[in-house]
Amino acid sequence: MATRDVEAGLLAHLSTNAEIADSRSFASSLGVPHKELEDVIKSLAAFRIVQSADITKETWVLTDEARGYAARGSPEVQLVAAIPPEGASKAALKEKLGDVVFDIGMKAAARNKWIGFQKGNKDLVLRMVEDTKDELQEQLRRLENGEGVANKVIDDLKKRKLVTKEKTIWYSLKKGPEFVLKRKTLATDVTREHLKSGDWKDLEFKDYNYGALGQPIPTGYVNPLLEVRESIQNIFIEMGFIEMPTNMFVESSFWNFDALFQPQQHPARDSHDTFFLKAPSTTTQLPNDYLEKVKQIHQSGGYGSKGYGYDWKRDEAEKNLLRTHTTAVSARMLYKIAQEKPFAPKRYYSIDRVFRNEAVDRTHLAEFHQIEGLICDYGLTLGDLKGVLEDFFSRLGMSQLRFKPAYNPYTEPSMEIFSYHDGLKKWVEIGNSGMFRPEMLLPMGLPEGVNVIAWGLSLERPTMILYGIDNIRDLFGPKVDFNLIKSSPMCRLGM
Ligand code: PHE
Repeated sequence: MATRDVEAGLLAHLSTNAEIADSRSFASSLGVPHKELEDVIKSLAAFRIVQSADITKETWVLTDEARGYAARGSPEVQLVAAIPPEGASKAALKEKLGDVVFDIGMKAAARNKWIGFQKGNKDLVLRMVEDTKDELQEQLRRLENGEGVANKVIDDLKKRKLVTKEKTIWYSLKKGPEFVLKRKTLATDVTREHLKSGDWKDLEFKDYNYGALGQPIPTGYVNPLLEVRESIQNIFIEMGFIEMPTNMFVESSFWNFDALFQPQQHPARDSHDTFFLKAPSTTTQLPNDYLEKVKQIHQSGGYGSKGYGYDWKRDEAEKNLLRTHTTAVSARMLYKIAQEKPFAPKRYYSIDRVFRNEAVDRTHLAEFHQIEGLICDYGLTLGDLKGVLEDFFSRLGMSQLRFKPAYNPYTEPSMEIFSYHDGLKKWVEIGNSGMFRPEMLLPMGLPEGVNVIAWGLSLERPTMILYGIDNIRDLFGPKVDFNLIKSSPMCRLGM
Protein backbone atom coordinates (compact mmCIF):
# COMPACT_ATOMS: atom_id res chain seq x y z
CA MET A 1 0.00 0.00 0.00
CA ALA A 2 1.38 3.41 -0.92
CA THR A 3 1.97 5.94 1.87
CA ARG A 4 -0.69 8.15 0.27
CA ASP A 5 -3.26 5.35 0.58
CA VAL A 6 -2.32 4.64 4.18
CA GLU A 7 -2.89 8.31 4.94
CA ALA A 8 -6.21 8.36 3.06
CA GLY A 9 -7.36 5.19 4.88
CA LEU A 10 -6.50 6.65 8.26
CA LEU A 11 -8.20 9.99 7.61
CA ALA A 12 -11.31 8.33 6.16
CA HIS A 13 -11.57 6.13 9.24
CA LEU A 14 -11.22 9.08 11.61
CA SER A 15 -13.78 11.17 9.74
CA THR A 16 -16.51 8.63 10.52
CA ASN A 17 -15.16 7.29 13.84
CA ALA A 18 -14.37 9.24 16.97
CA GLU A 19 -11.02 7.57 17.43
CA ILE A 20 -8.62 4.82 16.57
CA ALA A 21 -7.98 3.11 19.87
CA ASP A 22 -4.84 1.28 18.89
CA SER A 23 -2.64 1.95 15.86
CA ARG A 24 -1.26 -1.58 15.94
CA SER A 25 -4.51 -3.30 15.24
CA PHE A 26 -5.42 -0.54 12.78
CA ALA A 27 -2.15 -1.23 10.90
CA SER A 28 -2.98 -4.91 10.68
CA SER A 29 -6.51 -4.12 9.50
CA LEU A 30 -4.96 -2.09 6.68
CA GLY A 31 -2.41 -4.82 6.11
CA VAL A 32 0.65 -2.59 6.49
CA PRO A 33 3.56 -2.84 8.89
CA HIS A 34 3.11 -0.65 11.96
CA LYS A 35 6.27 1.30 11.15
CA GLU A 36 4.72 2.57 7.94
CA LEU A 37 1.59 3.76 9.69
CA GLU A 38 3.73 5.35 12.39
CA ASP A 39 5.48 7.57 9.82
CA VAL A 40 2.13 8.76 8.49
CA ILE A 41 0.86 9.43 12.02
CA LYS A 42 3.95 11.51 12.86
CA SER A 43 3.60 13.65 9.78
CA LEU A 44 -0.15 14.20 10.31
CA ALA A 45 0.38 14.99 13.99
CA ALA A 46 3.04 17.60 13.13
CA PHE A 47 0.40 19.50 11.12
CA ARG A 48 -2.16 18.96 13.91
CA ILE A 49 -4.42 17.07 11.50
CA VAL A 50 -4.58 14.23 13.99
CA GLN A 51 -3.85 14.08 17.69
CA SER A 52 -1.97 11.08 18.92
CA ALA A 53 -1.28 9.70 22.37
CA ASP A 54 1.44 7.14 23.04
CA ILE A 55 0.54 3.68 24.27
CA THR A 56 3.65 2.09 25.66
CA LYS A 57 3.60 -1.65 26.14
CA GLU A 58 6.18 -4.09 27.21
CA THR A 59 5.83 -7.33 25.37
CA TRP A 60 7.66 -10.62 25.42
CA VAL A 61 9.19 -11.49 22.11
CA LEU A 62 10.71 -14.80 21.03
CA THR A 63 14.44 -15.17 20.63
CA ASP A 64 15.79 -16.66 17.39
CA GLU A 65 16.15 -20.03 19.09
CA ALA A 66 12.52 -19.89 20.32
CA ARG A 67 11.26 -18.97 16.88
CA GLY A 68 12.86 -22.16 15.59
CA TYR A 69 11.03 -24.21 18.24
CA ALA A 70 7.73 -22.48 17.45
CA ALA A 71 8.14 -23.55 13.83
CA ARG A 72 9.63 -27.06 14.19
CA GLY A 73 8.62 -28.13 17.71
CA SER A 74 10.43 -28.19 21.05
CA PRO A 75 13.80 -29.98 21.21
CA GLU A 76 12.37 -32.81 23.33
CA VAL A 77 9.51 -33.47 20.91
CA GLN A 78 11.85 -33.24 17.92
CA LEU A 79 14.11 -35.76 19.65
CA VAL A 80 11.39 -38.28 20.43
CA ALA A 81 9.96 -37.95 16.94
CA ALA A 82 13.38 -38.79 15.51
CA ILE A 83 13.62 -42.14 17.37
CA PRO A 84 12.39 -45.13 15.31
CA PRO A 85 10.61 -48.05 17.12
CA GLU A 86 13.89 -50.03 17.38
CA GLY A 87 15.72 -47.09 18.97
CA ALA A 88 18.60 -44.95 17.68
CA SER A 89 22.22 -44.37 18.65
CA LYS A 90 23.15 -41.05 20.26
CA ALA A 91 25.54 -40.30 17.39
CA ALA A 92 22.80 -40.79 14.80
CA LEU A 93 20.41 -38.52 16.71
CA LYS A 94 23.04 -35.86 17.15
CA GLU A 95 23.78 -36.00 13.46
CA LYS A 96 20.13 -35.64 12.58
CA LEU A 97 19.13 -32.91 15.05
CA GLY A 98 22.26 -30.90 15.50
CA ASP A 99 24.16 -30.39 18.77
CA VAL A 100 21.89 -27.84 20.44
CA VAL A 101 18.56 -29.56 19.85
CA PHE A 102 20.10 -32.95 20.72
CA ASP A 103 21.62 -31.76 24.04
CA ILE A 104 18.57 -29.86 25.25
CA GLY A 105 16.17 -32.49 23.90
CA MET A 106 17.97 -35.36 25.68
CA LYS A 107 17.79 -33.62 29.04
CA ALA A 108 14.17 -32.51 28.78
CA ALA A 109 12.97 -35.88 27.33
CA ALA A 110 14.75 -37.79 30.12
CA ARG A 111 13.10 -35.52 32.70
CA ASN A 112 9.72 -36.26 31.13
CA LYS A 113 10.60 -39.97 31.01
CA TRP A 114 9.94 -40.00 27.26
CA ILE A 115 13.17 -41.89 26.59
CA GLY A 116 14.97 -44.78 28.22
CA PHE A 117 17.89 -47.20 27.83
CA GLN A 118 18.32 -50.97 27.85
CA LYS A 119 20.42 -52.31 30.71
CA GLY A 120 24.10 -52.22 29.84
CA ASN A 121 23.68 -50.13 26.70
CA LYS A 122 23.82 -46.42 27.39
CA ASP A 123 24.25 -45.62 23.72
CA LEU A 124 20.97 -46.83 22.28
CA VAL A 125 18.19 -44.33 22.98
CA LEU A 126 14.74 -45.91 23.21
CA ARG A 127 11.40 -44.22 22.81
CA MET A 128 9.14 -44.80 25.85
CA VAL A 129 5.96 -42.97 24.73
CA GLU A 130 3.70 -43.15 21.70
CA ASP A 131 2.44 -39.64 21.64
CA THR A 132 4.12 -36.50 22.92
CA LYS A 133 2.27 -33.31 23.56
CA ASP A 134 4.32 -30.24 22.62
CA GLU A 135 3.37 -27.68 25.24
CA LEU A 136 6.40 -25.53 24.66
CA GLN A 137 5.63 -25.13 20.98
CA GLU A 138 2.05 -24.23 21.83
CA GLN A 139 3.13 -21.56 24.32
CA LEU A 140 5.64 -20.08 21.92
CA ARG A 141 3.05 -19.92 19.18
CA ARG A 142 0.59 -18.17 21.46
CA LEU A 143 3.20 -15.55 22.32
CA GLU A 144 4.06 -15.14 18.67
CA ASN A 145 0.44 -14.36 17.89
CA GLY A 146 0.19 -11.81 20.65
CA GLU A 147 -1.99 -14.03 22.82
CA GLY A 148 -1.48 -14.10 26.55
CA VAL A 149 0.24 -16.87 28.54
CA ALA A 150 0.43 -17.49 32.28
CA ASN A 151 3.11 -15.61 34.24
CA LYS A 152 4.63 -18.90 35.36
CA VAL A 153 5.14 -19.89 31.73
CA ILE A 154 6.89 -16.58 31.07
CA ASP A 155 9.19 -17.24 34.03
CA ASP A 156 10.10 -20.65 32.62
CA LEU A 157 10.72 -19.25 29.15
CA LYS A 158 12.85 -16.46 30.60
CA LYS A 159 14.98 -19.04 32.40
CA ARG A 160 15.45 -20.97 29.18
CA LYS A 161 16.35 -17.67 27.43
CA LEU A 162 13.57 -18.17 24.92
CA VAL A 163 11.92 -14.78 25.41
CA THR A 164 13.13 -11.21 25.87
CA LYS A 165 11.27 -8.13 26.94
CA GLU A 166 10.72 -5.46 24.35
CA LYS A 167 9.22 -2.04 24.71
CA THR A 168 6.88 -1.09 21.90
CA ILE A 169 5.02 2.11 21.33
CA TRP A 170 1.82 2.45 19.47
CA TYR A 171 -0.76 5.16 19.40
CA SER A 172 -4.34 6.07 19.99
CA LEU A 173 -5.63 8.65 17.53
CA LYS A 174 -8.27 11.39 17.40
CA LYS A 175 -9.06 14.16 14.96
CA GLY A 176 -6.78 17.17 15.44
CA PRO A 177 -7.79 20.86 15.30
CA GLU A 178 -6.72 21.04 11.67
CA PHE A 179 -8.45 17.80 10.67
CA VAL A 180 -9.15 17.40 6.94
CA LEU A 181 -10.13 14.40 4.95
CA LYS A 182 -7.54 15.17 2.34
CA ARG A 183 -4.36 17.10 3.04
CA LYS A 184 -3.78 20.04 0.79
CA THR A 185 -0.39 20.05 -0.77
CA LEU A 186 0.89 23.59 -0.67
CA ALA A 187 2.49 25.00 -3.79
CA THR A 188 6.07 26.17 -3.39
CA ASP A 189 6.56 27.88 -6.75
CA VAL A 190 4.53 29.63 -9.40
CA THR A 191 5.32 27.78 -12.59
CA ARG A 192 4.66 28.58 -16.20
CA GLU A 193 1.89 25.96 -16.15
CA HIS A 194 0.21 27.65 -13.21
CA LEU A 195 0.23 30.96 -15.06
CA LYS A 196 -1.08 29.42 -18.25
CA SER A 197 -3.93 27.57 -16.64
CA GLY A 198 -4.72 30.34 -14.16
CA ASP A 199 -4.94 27.86 -11.29
CA TRP A 200 -2.45 29.91 -9.28
CA LYS A 201 -5.46 31.98 -8.16
CA ASP A 202 -6.81 29.03 -6.19
CA LEU A 203 -3.54 27.56 -5.01
CA GLU A 204 -2.37 27.84 -1.46
CA PHE A 205 1.31 28.66 -1.24
CA LYS A 206 3.77 27.51 1.31
CA ASP A 207 5.10 30.32 3.50
CA TYR A 208 8.66 31.40 3.05
CA ASN A 209 10.92 30.45 5.91
CA TYR A 210 12.92 33.59 6.41
CA GLY A 211 14.67 32.08 9.38
CA ALA A 212 16.24 29.25 7.38
CA LEU A 213 20.00 29.35 7.11
CA GLY A 214 21.42 29.52 3.62
CA GLN A 215 23.74 26.95 2.12
CA PRO A 216 27.31 27.53 3.19
CA ILE A 217 29.06 29.30 0.35
CA PRO A 218 31.99 27.34 -1.07
CA THR A 219 35.05 29.53 -0.67
CA GLY A 220 38.72 29.12 -0.11
CA TYR A 221 40.04 28.91 3.41
CA VAL A 222 43.07 30.41 5.06
CA ASN A 223 45.27 28.29 7.25
CA PRO A 224 45.52 30.06 10.64
CA LEU A 225 49.29 30.17 10.11
CA LEU A 226 48.82 32.36 7.06
CA GLU A 227 46.41 34.59 8.91
CA VAL A 228 48.79 35.18 11.80
CA ARG A 229 51.66 35.53 9.37
CA GLU A 230 49.80 38.31 7.61
CA SER A 231 49.09 40.22 10.79
CA ILE A 232 52.73 39.92 11.84
CA GLN A 233 53.83 41.03 8.41
CA ASN A 234 51.57 44.09 8.79
CA ILE A 235 53.09 44.90 12.16
CA PHE A 236 56.60 44.80 10.70
CA ILE A 237 55.53 47.01 7.82
CA GLU A 238 53.85 49.51 10.17
CA MET A 239 57.12 49.64 12.10
CA GLY A 240 59.09 50.42 8.94
CA PHE A 241 60.70 47.00 8.33
CA ILE A 242 61.52 45.63 4.87
CA GLU A 243 61.19 41.96 3.98
CA MET A 244 64.33 39.88 3.37
CA PRO A 245 64.46 37.35 0.52
CA THR A 246 63.94 33.95 2.15
CA ASN A 247 63.68 31.76 -0.94
CA MET A 248 66.73 29.59 -0.17
CA PHE A 249 65.68 26.57 1.88
CA VAL A 250 68.99 24.94 1.01
CA GLU A 251 71.83 26.83 2.57
CA SER A 252 75.51 26.22 3.14
CA SER A 253 76.86 25.53 6.62
CA PHE A 254 78.89 28.69 6.05
CA TRP A 255 75.91 31.08 6.08
CA ASN A 256 73.87 29.01 8.50
CA PHE A 257 76.66 28.59 11.09
CA ASP A 258 80.17 29.88 10.32
CA ALA A 259 79.18 33.43 9.41
CA LEU A 260 77.26 33.45 12.72
CA PHE A 261 80.45 32.67 14.67
CA GLN A 262 79.11 29.24 15.53
CA PRO A 263 82.15 26.94 16.00
CA GLN A 264 82.44 23.90 13.75
CA GLN A 265 82.26 21.52 16.74
CA HIS A 266 79.00 23.03 17.96
CA PRO A 267 76.45 20.25 18.66
CA ALA A 268 73.76 21.96 16.51
CA ARG A 269 76.00 21.16 13.52
CA ASP A 270 75.51 17.44 14.12
CA SER A 271 73.35 15.38 11.76
CA HIS A 272 71.11 14.55 14.72
CA ASP A 273 70.03 18.18 14.80
CA THR A 274 70.45 19.30 11.21
CA PHE A 275 69.40 17.83 7.84
CA PHE A 276 72.47 17.71 5.59
CA LEU A 277 72.09 17.30 1.83
CA LYS A 278 73.40 14.24 -0.01
CA ALA A 279 73.30 15.78 -3.48
CA PRO A 280 74.66 18.31 -3.98
CA SER A 281 76.40 17.80 -0.70
CA THR A 282 78.58 20.88 -0.92
CA THR A 283 78.61 24.40 -2.28
CA THR A 284 81.52 26.04 -4.04
CA GLN A 285 80.09 29.53 -4.17
CA LEU A 286 81.35 31.23 -1.08
CA PRO A 287 82.80 34.80 -1.00
CA ASN A 288 86.51 34.05 -0.60
CA ASP A 289 87.69 37.31 0.99
CA TYR A 290 84.98 37.20 3.59
CA LEU A 291 85.48 33.46 4.13
CA GLU A 292 89.13 34.15 5.02
CA LYS A 293 88.04 36.67 7.65
CA VAL A 294 85.53 34.24 9.13
CA LYS A 295 88.26 31.59 9.29
CA GLN A 296 90.54 34.04 11.09
CA ILE A 297 87.99 35.05 13.69
CA HIS A 298 87.12 31.40 14.47
CA GLN A 299 90.76 30.27 14.62
CA SER A 300 92.60 33.12 16.24
CA GLY A 301 90.13 35.94 16.84
CA GLY A 302 90.61 39.63 16.08
CA TYR A 303 88.90 42.97 16.80
CA GLY A 304 89.66 42.38 20.47
CA SER A 305 88.31 38.80 20.49
CA LYS A 306 90.37 35.68 21.19
CA GLY A 307 88.39 33.48 18.81
CA TYR A 308 87.88 29.80 19.51
CA GLY A 309 91.41 28.64 18.83
CA TYR A 310 90.73 25.60 16.66
CA ASP A 311 91.62 24.51 13.16
CA TRP A 312 88.78 25.89 10.97
CA LYS A 313 87.99 23.71 7.92
CA ARG A 314 86.57 24.98 4.65
CA ASP A 315 85.10 21.49 3.95
CA GLU A 316 82.88 21.83 6.97
CA ALA A 317 81.65 25.26 5.86
CA GLU A 318 80.88 23.99 2.35
CA LYS A 319 78.40 21.34 3.52
CA ASN A 320 74.89 21.94 2.27
CA LEU A 321 71.96 21.72 4.64
CA LEU A 322 68.34 22.70 5.04
CA ARG A 323 68.59 25.99 6.90
CA THR A 324 67.95 25.54 10.61
CA HIS A 325 67.07 29.18 11.23
CA THR A 326 66.29 32.29 9.22
CA THR A 327 69.26 33.96 10.91
CA ALA A 328 71.18 32.52 7.92
CA VAL A 329 69.16 34.93 5.76
CA SER A 330 69.89 37.78 8.17
CA ALA A 331 73.62 36.99 7.92
CA ARG A 332 73.50 37.20 4.12
CA MET A 333 71.59 40.51 4.31
CA LEU A 334 74.00 42.03 6.82
CA TYR A 335 76.95 41.02 4.65
CA LYS A 336 75.22 42.70 1.71
CA ILE A 337 74.55 45.89 3.72
CA ALA A 338 78.20 45.90 4.76
CA GLN A 339 79.25 45.99 1.09
CA GLU A 340 77.09 49.06 0.40
CA LYS A 341 79.01 52.27 1.03
CA PRO A 342 78.26 54.55 2.73
CA PHE A 343 76.51 52.56 5.43
CA ALA A 344 72.78 53.30 5.87
CA PRO A 345 70.71 52.05 8.83
CA LYS A 346 68.19 49.30 8.04
CA ARG A 347 65.21 47.48 9.53
CA TYR A 348 64.61 44.05 8.07
CA TYR A 349 62.23 41.16 8.75
CA SER A 350 61.50 37.68 7.41
CA ILE A 351 58.90 34.99 7.96
CA ASP A 352 59.63 31.61 6.38
CA ARG A 353 60.33 27.98 6.79
CA VAL A 354 63.21 26.32 8.67
CA PHE A 355 64.10 22.67 9.23
CA ARG A 356 65.40 20.71 12.18
CA ASN A 357 66.06 17.03 12.58
CA GLU A 358 63.73 16.64 15.53
CA ALA A 359 61.42 13.97 16.88
CA VAL A 360 57.89 15.03 16.01
CA ASP A 361 55.47 15.47 18.90
CA ARG A 362 52.59 17.73 20.01
CA THR A 363 54.78 20.82 20.02
CA HIS A 364 57.57 19.96 17.56
CA LEU A 365 57.74 19.42 13.83
CA ALA A 366 60.79 18.83 11.67
CA GLU A 367 59.87 21.93 9.67
CA PHE A 368 58.25 25.06 10.96
CA HIS A 369 58.25 28.81 10.37
CA GLN A 370 60.42 31.45 11.91
CA ILE A 371 59.75 35.13 12.28
CA GLU A 372 62.84 37.28 12.50
CA GLY A 373 63.42 40.99 12.84
CA LEU A 374 66.62 43.01 12.92
CA ILE A 375 67.67 46.63 13.12
CA CYS A 376 71.17 47.81 12.32
CA ASP A 377 72.37 51.26 13.15
CA TYR A 378 75.06 53.16 14.99
CA GLY A 379 74.99 53.05 18.75
CA LEU A 380 72.11 50.65 19.38
CA THR A 381 71.85 49.32 22.93
CA LEU A 382 70.08 46.56 24.82
CA GLY A 383 67.57 49.24 25.84
CA ASP A 384 66.73 49.74 22.17
CA LEU A 385 66.20 45.99 21.80
CA LYS A 386 63.85 45.86 24.80
CA GLY A 387 61.96 48.89 23.51
CA VAL A 388 61.48 47.48 20.04
CA LEU A 389 60.41 44.10 21.44
CA GLU A 390 57.86 45.78 23.69
CA ASP A 391 56.51 47.75 20.75
CA PHE A 392 56.40 44.70 18.46
CA PHE A 393 54.78 42.28 20.92
CA SER A 394 52.26 44.77 22.29
CA ARG A 395 50.99 45.20 18.73
CA LEU A 396 50.43 41.42 18.81
CA GLY A 397 48.44 41.79 22.03
CA MET A 398 51.26 40.70 24.33
CA SER A 399 52.06 43.72 26.44
CA GLN A 400 53.55 42.08 29.53
CA LEU A 401 57.06 40.93 28.68
CA ARG A 402 59.95 39.59 30.71
CA PHE A 403 63.49 38.86 29.59
CA LYS A 404 65.81 36.14 30.73
CA PRO A 405 69.57 35.98 30.00
CA ALA A 406 70.35 33.27 27.45
CA TYR A 407 73.12 32.07 25.19
CA ASN A 408 73.48 32.09 21.40
CA PRO A 409 76.88 31.79 19.71
CA TYR A 410 76.08 34.86 17.58
CA THR A 411 74.56 37.27 20.12
CA GLU A 412 75.89 38.90 23.26
CA PRO A 413 73.98 39.69 25.35
CA SER A 414 71.17 37.27 24.52
CA MET A 415 67.69 37.23 26.00
CA GLU A 416 64.81 34.82 25.95
CA ILE A 417 61.46 36.59 25.72
CA PHE A 418 58.53 35.58 27.93
CA SER A 419 54.98 36.87 27.76
CA TYR A 420 52.30 36.57 30.43
CA HIS A 421 49.45 34.43 29.10
CA ASP A 422 46.13 35.49 30.59
CA GLY A 423 44.38 32.25 29.65
CA LEU A 424 47.10 29.94 30.93
CA LYS A 425 47.85 32.27 33.85
CA LYS A 426 51.57 31.84 33.44
CA TRP A 427 54.64 33.18 31.67
CA VAL A 428 55.29 31.44 28.36
CA GLU A 429 58.47 31.62 26.33
CA ILE A 430 57.74 33.29 23.02
CA GLY A 431 61.09 34.06 21.45
CA ASN A 432 64.80 34.63 21.56
CA SER A 433 66.79 37.79 20.94
CA GLY A 434 70.10 39.53 21.29
CA MET A 435 72.72 41.90 19.92
CA PHE A 436 74.84 40.33 17.20
CA ARG A 437 78.44 39.86 18.29
CA PRO A 438 81.27 41.99 16.85
CA GLU A 439 82.91 38.66 15.83
CA MET A 440 80.01 38.29 13.41
CA LEU A 441 79.58 41.90 12.23
CA LEU A 442 83.14 43.20 11.86
CA PRO A 443 84.46 40.46 9.51
CA MET A 444 81.49 41.30 7.24
CA GLY A 445 82.86 44.81 6.89
CA LEU A 446 80.22 46.72 8.86
CA PRO A 447 81.66 49.96 10.27
CA GLU A 448 82.84 49.98 13.84
CA GLY A 449 80.14 51.36 16.14
CA VAL A 450 77.31 49.82 14.14
CA ASN A 451 75.21 47.45 16.26
CA VAL A 452 72.55 45.01 15.23
CA ILE A 453 69.69 44.08 17.50
CA ALA A 454 67.63 41.10 16.45
CA TRP A 455 64.98 38.65 17.59
CA GLY A 456 63.37 35.48 16.38
CA LEU A 457 60.31 33.43 17.20
CA SER A 458 58.28 30.67 15.63
CA LEU A 459 55.07 31.40 13.79
CA GLU A 460 53.44 28.23 15.09
CA ARG A 461 53.75 29.10 18.77
CA PRO A 462 51.75 32.36 18.79
CA THR A 463 49.25 30.84 16.32
CA MET A 464 48.63 27.93 18.67
CA ILE A 465 48.21 30.31 21.59
CA LEU A 466 45.87 32.62 19.65
CA TYR A 467 43.73 29.77 18.28
CA GLY A 468 43.82 27.58 21.37
CA ILE A 469 45.42 24.67 19.46
CA ASP A 470 47.38 22.22 21.60
CA ASN A 471 48.76 19.94 18.89
CA ILE A 472 51.03 21.46 16.25
CA ARG A 473 50.15 18.59 13.88
CA ASP A 474 46.56 19.89 13.65
CA LEU A 475 47.96 23.11 12.27
CA PHE A 476 50.66 22.16 9.82
CA GLY A 477 51.77 19.04 7.94
CA PRO A 478 50.00 15.98 6.52
CA LYS A 479 47.67 15.52 9.50
CA VAL A 480 46.31 19.05 9.45
CA ASP A 481 42.76 19.38 10.73
CA PHE A 482 40.60 20.61 7.83
CA ASN A 483 37.64 21.46 10.06
CA LEU A 484 39.86 23.86 11.91
CA ILE A 485 40.92 25.49 8.67
CA LYS A 486 37.35 25.64 7.43
CA SER A 487 36.50 27.82 10.40
CA SER A 488 38.32 30.68 8.70
CA PRO A 489 36.85 31.33 5.26
CA MET A 490 38.88 33.58 3.00
CA CYS A 491 35.96 35.83 2.21
CA ARG A 492 33.75 36.92 5.07
CA LEU A 493 30.30 38.16 4.23
CA GLY A 494 28.31 40.47 6.45
CA MET A 495 31.12 41.56 8.70
N1 PHE B 1 68.11 32.08 15.51
C1 PHE B 1 67.50 32.04 16.79
C2 PHE B 1 66.67 30.73 16.90
O1 PHE B 1 66.69 29.96 15.99
C3 PHE B 1 66.58 33.19 17.02
C4 PHE B 1 67.33 34.48 17.14
C5 PHE B 1 67.32 35.37 16.08
C6 PHE B 1 68.04 34.80 18.27
C7 PHE B 1 68.00 36.56 16.16
C8 PHE B 1 68.71 35.99 18.37
C9 PHE B 1 68.71 36.84 17.33
O2 PHE B 1 66.06 30.47 17.92
